[in-house]
Amino acid sequence: MNKLTSATNSRVLSGMRPTGQLHLGHYHGVLKNWLALQHEYECFFFVADWHALTTEYDNSGVIQDSINDMVVDWLAAGVSPRSAKIFVQSQVPEHAELHLLLSMITPLGWLERVPTYKDQQEKLKEKDLATYGFLGYPLLQSADILIYRATQVPVGEDQVAHVELTREIARRFNHIYGREPGFEESAEAAAKKMGKKNAKLYHNLRRSFQEQGDHEALETAKALLESQGNITLGDRERLFGYLEGGGKIILPEPQPLLTPASKMPGLDGQKMSKSYGNTISLRESPEAIDEKLRKMPTDTNRVRLTDPGDPARCPVWQLHKIYSDESVQNWVKEGCTSAGIGCLDCKAPIIEAVQKELAPLRERAQEFIDDPSIVKSILKEGAEEARTVARETMTEVRQAMGLKF
Ligand code: TRP
Ligand code: SF4
Repeated sequence: MNKLTSATNSRVLSGMRPTGQLHLGHYHGVLKNWLALQHEYECFFFVADWHALTTEYDNSGVIQDSINDMVVDWLAAGVSPRSAKIFVQSQVPEHAELHLLLSMITPLGWLERVPTYKDQQEKLKEKDLATYGFLGYPLLQSADILIYRATQVPVGEDQVAHVELTREIARRFNHIYGREPGFEESAEAAAKKMGKKNAKLYHNLRRSFQEQGDHEALETAKALLESQGNITLGDRERLFGYLEGGGKIILPEPQPLLTPASKMPGLDGQKMSKSYGNTISLRESPEAIDEKLRKMPTDTNRVRLTDPGDPARCPVWQLHKIYSDESVQNWVKEGCTSAGIGCLDCKAPIIEAVQKELAPLRERAQEFIDDPSIVKSILKEGAEEARTVARETMTEVRQAMGLKF
């Protein structure tokens, strides 16, 4: 797909809390997905530092240090400032303004019902999360998404409810503020601006959808609107809204783009996670990679080399499923169950694969570590580009809400 043509109707946004250096779980679970998306869509990837404050408000020093480490890893993994806008949330204050304005129309019950609200309070019992900021954090996420009018939001399963909330907020916003007086007349006037032929096509498609529920016609009409270079943003929104009835669509509803749960196992076979201490970080030294993998536990039944094992009981096998092709996997199954290979032999192809995977990342990271001003300027430029888009949305939102002073 051509990025330029898809860019107008497909915008991807995702955020990550600054957790410091990333590990293989992040790489296989999230970053590789971002790398693929950045070539296909207009992408916005940001560091959610305000989100981190909702739970780390009493320990905020760690957030600042974590930002640089995390962005270095994004860049080292191949997230490219030429393809995606990379920035820090707090450098785009428009997120906060939209959050505030959306808070006016957000029923408390909607926030209280978000599953992560109670779950996280239970899970992080040692923290006092009975705060206003914590309750409102999913709405801040809605603002993050809606301010760029993102159409797709790559998230894990645990975040789908937040995208769902965002859709409800957008719908409510459009319902309350999208009904300008004389909407029909201004939509009709906007249609005329596309020229006679296109206006006629638009009307026919609109009728097919509204009278016969023809969804293909709806899609064709949307594509027609996307291809109009000479109508204003406001007119385009009017025409989008007019297609489906209602009013102007100021904030479009985003779709979650479900990232398959990371199957990356940690060194102990549990999910790879910093809190389990079972990670290989993306900038791990070759020696440490070697040592960590050599020390990895294996099937506990294989005490001696002559004891046969069972890959199903071995965390190393989980890694073969990620890194090895079928022939190596067959070699493992055969060699393990017949005690034909030792566990260190079995680990050798994994060690080699991880070394090969991480060497270029480590090398690229070094450039950013040596000169911290590169990351700084990438983030600065990213924030400026993001703000240009965010400001456009805010102008419309303010106007729709009657803040024209
Ligand atoms: N809440 C997300 C998390 O904790 C991070 C995040 C913040 C985000 N804003 C977002 C993700 C917007 C996607 C879109 O992981
Ligand atoms: Fe695990 Fe491989 Fe040893 Fe079998 S041979 S127990 S799969 S490390």
